[in-house]
Amino acid sequence: MQRIVYLNGEYIEESAAKVSAFDRGFLFADAVYEVTAVLDGKLIDNPGHLARLERSSKELGIKLPVTGEELTQIQRTLIEKNGLVEGGIYLQLTRGAEGDRDFSYSEDIEPTLVLFTQSRNLIESPKTKTGIKVISFADIRWRRRDIKTTSLLPACMAKHAAHEAGAEDVWLIEDGYVTEGGSSNAYIVTNEGTLVTRPLSNDILHGITRASLMKLAAELDLTIEERFFTIDEAYAAKEAFISSATTFVWPVVAIDDKPIGGGKPGEIALKLRDIYIKTALELAE
Ligand code: PDD
Repeated sequence: MQRIVYLNGEYIEESAAKVSAFDRGFLFADAVYEVTAVLDGKLIDNPGHLARLERSSKELGIKLPVTGEELTQIQRTLIEKNGLVEGGIYLQLTRGAEGDRDFSYSEDIEPTLVLFTQSRNLIESPKTKTGIKVISFADIRWRRRDIKTTSLLPACMAKHAAHEAGAEDVWLIEDGYVTEGGSSNAYIVTNEGTLVTRPLSNDILHGITRASLMKLAAELDLTIEERFFTIDEAYAAKEAFISSATTFVWPVVAIDDKPIGGGKPGEIALKLRDIYIKTALELAE
């Protein structure tokens, strides 16, 4: 059975979902995206994702052709049409196509909007039990990482290097400090039990899962420090973990082949994961 994909106002079979060769998303990565998790057929943390989409598109002057409410309706229709129970919905908004390759664009260019579902096991992911290994990798991305654009070549290169090194992901390093994961936010827990993660700025994506986790961590009375941390501090940490819409929380058990927390998933990481999933399910729409 073919997946049903949303493309510019239509619900069509995936094989029919075609975008112009002149689309600026394809030619220039002139596009923004979002990924929303789905559990029990419901959207997780979706208002945050849609708010960030609005911000990303505004920052780049890309027109959003539908309202947030209409987007939610499209997401729900796709869940229903594809019988999606667990996984995610990918959304991409490009500036559109004008029939040629030209760096500049006209004001009345019509955007391209695509959404599709992906069926995945998010809760019973084996990575929760084993944890993941990451390698450190130079952060060579542009200076507006707060905008969720589809310019993901640096992330693809970094993640491929991780794969070749037998690891699952990367922690990106700039000026000696960890910025974030390849497609996630990065955290450590110090030996004193303090949760440390880089503060929000244009250097990192403002993770929607991160925002929810920080609230939950505060409710758990964890000591939180939003500050820079080096990869050496991470090597010596009691725990390390990542967060994103597609992983929720995954423990990191080795960084550059150095075991973290004895090479086992950390207690705080697993606790935050459990509470995040429980709360997200209660708030799911
Ligand atoms: N990535 N940092 C980066 C660079 C990311 O690409 C992502 C998400 C995050 C976490 O953000 P959130 O919690 O809002 O998902 C942080 C998505 C999942 C992706 O590219 O597939």
